[in-house]
Amino acid sequence: MTHPTRIVLASRPKGAPTAENFRVEEFDLPEAREGDVTLRILYLSLDPYMRGRMSDAKSYAAPTPVDGVMEGETVCEVSRSRDPAFKPGDIVRARTGWCTHAVLAGSSVYHFNTHGAPDTTAIGVLGMPGFTAYSGMKVIGQPKSGETVVVAAASGPVGSMVGQLARLAGARAVGIAGGKDKCDFVRNELGFDAVVDHRSKDFVTDLEHACPNGIDVYFENVGGHVWDAVLPLLNQFARVPVCGLVATYNGAGAGDHDRLPGTMGAILRRSIQVRGFIQTEFVKDHYKDFEREIGPLVANGSIKYREDVVDGLEKAPSAFIGMLDGKNFGKLLVRVA
Ligand SMILES: NC(=O)c1ccc[n+]([C@@H]2O[C@H](COP(=O)([O-])OP(=O)(O)OC[C@H]3O[C@@H](n4cnc5c(N)ncnc54)[C@H](OP(=O)(O)O)[C@@H]3O)[C@@H](O)[C@H]2O)c1
Repeated sequence: MTHPTRIVLASRPKGAPTAENFRVEEFDLPEAREGDVTLRILYLSLDPYMRGRMSDAKSYAAPTPVDGVMEGETVCEVSRSRDPAFKPGDIVRARTGWCTHAVLAGSSVYHFNTHGAPDTTAIGVLGMPGFTAYSGMKVIGQPKSGETVVVAAASGPVGSMVGQLARLAGARAVGIAGGKDKCDFVRNELGFDAVVDHRSKDFVTDLEHACPNGIDVYFENVGGHVWDAVLPLLNQFARVPVCGLVATYNGAGAGDHDRLPGTMGAILRRSIQVRGFIQTEFVKDHYKDFEREIGPLVANGSIKYREDVVDGLEKAPSAFIGMLDGKNFGKLLVRVA
């Protein structure tokens, strides 16, 4: 076995993270105890929420300590098992963090079922990001036939699922994405009804033209200038699942102007329902339905997805930094082994 390697948080970023905020180091695997499994990490998922863990600002989850391993979910191969529920060779999902090997209690390791879709989907379209879209739409968005649903970061794992679920519900799906290639993918491969480039100088009027009947569901992934363009178009009784605000994660966008009076006024006058959520609150009631309903649709190609795979754990920091600036194209994964 090559020496186990991990990536730790070397220092807390101020603004956008830089390479200096991360440190690659070798470590010794702990001894496996009764009930533990030893894992070889195959793929690591890189997700926007990790930026929040790098900061010590108050949030829904505890921050990663400085010198602590960067958190993350992985697809792994069981190499040794002291838990009868697992055997060597099993492919599983676990929260190992950014590392090449791990020893974890078997009770925290998950056998997944992708219905024949590739194992990587267990941390993408059929994992946490796909479930985020599914549960946010099911519980809060509740799109109806003929309505207009808008989502940004539309080529990513959350946004691409939101738009495809909207279409399955008979609604019109309008995507917002950055740049021509992503827009072409959203329109032509994912089958959204319309797509708008938020980097275009005509973004505001393009969005208006793409939503001639206004917006009934806006699935909020980014905030910032995208929210400014969406707000005037929200219909009476519109629903806004607030899933993420990636435009502000590096500290930009929040202070450029005060959005609160305009936003609260629109919520009041148009009876708009704005509901934030963290997907974990819906796991107990909806995860099994998600696996049963969406797994087969992904496996048979009815629901499409795209993965952006970088090679080697040491590339995780640069890939992660790029994602916060829209450089990824699809679900960002690191092939570790
Ligand atoms: N609430 C929850 O439980 C939960 C769970 C998972 C994810 N999330 C949130 O869901 C959102 C999408 O996550 P994901 O994993 O699917 O990410 P993703 O789409 O793979 O990556 C983030 C994307 O955000 C877009 N973006 C970045 N900065 C932007 C800006 N200033 N303005 C507009 N767009 C910008 C970029 O796409 P473009 O180049 O197309 O703009 C970038 O590719 C994130 O906000 C994430 O935090 C929330």
